[in-house]
Amino acid sequence: MKVFDIAPVKFIDDKMMILDQTRLPGEEVYIEAVTKEDVWDAIYQLKVRGAPAIGVAAGYGLYISVRGYEGSDMEGFRKLVRDNSEYLNSSRPTAVNLSWALRRMERVLDEAAASGEGSLTVESAKGLMLAEAEKIRIEDEESCRAMGEYGLSLLKPGMGILTHCNAGTIATAKYGTCLAPIYLGQERGYDFKVFADETRPLLQGARLTSWELHKSGVDVTLICDNMASIVMKNGWIDAVVVGCDRMAANGDGANKIGTSGVAILAKEYGIPFYMFVPTSTIDLNTPTGEDIPIELRKGEEIYQMWYEKNMAPEGVKTYNPAFDVTDHKYITAVITEKGVVRPPYDVNLRKLKDE
Ligand code: MRU
Repeated sequence: MKVFDIAPVKFIDDKMMILDQTRLPGEEVYIEAVTKEDVWDAIYQLKVRGAPAIGVAAGYGLYISVRGYEGSDMEGFRKLVRDNSEYLNSSRPTAVNLSWALRRMERVLDEAAASGEGSLTVESAKGLMLAEAEKIRIEDEESCRAMGEYGLSLLKPGMGILTHCNAGTIATAKYGTCLAPIYLGQERGYDFKVFADETRPLLQGARLTSWELHKSGVDVTLICDNMASIVMKNGWIDAVVVGCDRMAANGDGANKIGTSGVAILAKEYGIPFYMFVPTSTIDLNTPTGEDIPIELRKGEEIYQMWYEKNMAPEGVKTYNPAFDVTDHKYITAVITEKGVVRPPYDVNLRKLKDE
């Protein structure tokens, strides 16, 4: 089995199964999500993480949270869907794929109700929701594959590539966003040399990206976040590729904390900085990066989580934002499933979404 066949969320035998990414790289364990609380916790605790995978989990999660509804009262069913959607949407604020997927799940019911002139039943509504969740997953897989091809068109064999966090297969339905061209390149003998930032504090680069790539036989070197500058200065990096959690209408992109620093370094060293952003992650209702909500997480993740004892004095203050915003001026190109977008982003992203 190829690594990119490892799905972060599976719906099999009528069960929603989530790969518990907090246990990687040591254990590959799937847990079953039965209730809406299970799904909320899995997203909040980053058992399932990465913007597109969160969207996929939200789709199935909303379905499983309402499928036990008994009776035929459509109004009661729609209210449950709305309430559970609102609840799941509160699990993490930054990745727009969460609200995007939940809105899609609700819209499918609105559209069916509008077109069916009142003939929509609770049972058929449940069927439509499961089908929509499947569609979200399948479309994401296709979109990642397309981003892989577009991304690969910007890269050359033998290149050194730096990445931050994990925008790989387990952050999406399949292939990943910014790791998709690396997998496609691997199949076509491109022989990339990838450098993975460890990505403090939750170590998505060390635990997930280096695991994915190493397991796939890609030449990957793990570095600490503060080593990005030296590998660039050494001339080992020809391109930076990263994912995105929400791109504002002007092209500012929120991604894992530390991404903006990497982008600024890349500019200094004259290295192209590519952000991989499926259209599901472009939010034209958010005008600029200033308007993107940034998740703040517990300080324990910085000084306690990976250590046997606390690595900071008792009572010290902490600041633990999970994301930062890369200003659009540092982004060389945005790679989407519809093609490569270049500046001016405020004009070209809108055009792309309208297509
Ligand atoms: O906190 P995480 O692990 O969910 O953050 C993930 C990222 O920042 C990814 O780069 C982003 O979601 C894109 S995943 C294709």
